Amino acid sequence: MSDHEDRDALIAAARDAAARAYAPYSGFHVGAALLLDNGDVVTGANVENASYGLTLCAETAAIAKIANEGWIDRLAAVAIIGGRPDGEALIGSEPVHPCGRCRQILNEAAERSKTDIAVHCASGDGAAIRSYRLSELLPAAFGPKDLGLIPD
Ligand code: THU
Repeated sequence: MSDHEDRDALIAAARDAAARAYAPYSGFHVGAALLLDNGDVVTGANVENASYGLTLCAETAAIAKIANEGWIDRLAAVAIIGGRPDGEALIGSEPVHPCGRCRQILNEAAERSKTDIAVHCASGDGAAIRSYRLSELLPAAFGPKDLGLIPD
């Protein structure tokens, strides 16, 4: 499979996940899809709360899933998509980038996985995609390596 096919499949999985967002307050549905080192894909969507600040972002929900399965050291890439729902579709022409907290949470798994993971950011309408390495989005990160937790 080509890099672009991988990327597009991951974005499609993130889009499916966004349909399961619980976002009654913002109306902004976000999906995240994590690619693991064996090709498996694990997804998450945002989970809002009446106490707004308790909201869980899509990326955080997905990372919690892989951590709970014992797979926090198997992350290869992530795709993120977000927008406002319009029937089956999402509206939005600008790529959605991970928030600061999610960049840090992604970094935990990336360092554990010893991979500068690819981060694919897609607009709700799917027309705009920007791809990065996590180190571009979170340079000079603090992480488990700083606490001596990354074995050689
Ligand atoms: N959101 C995410 O799920 N991920 C991000 O990286 C940015 C923001 C969600 C949180 C909230 O439910 C909605 O988008 C609007 O902020």
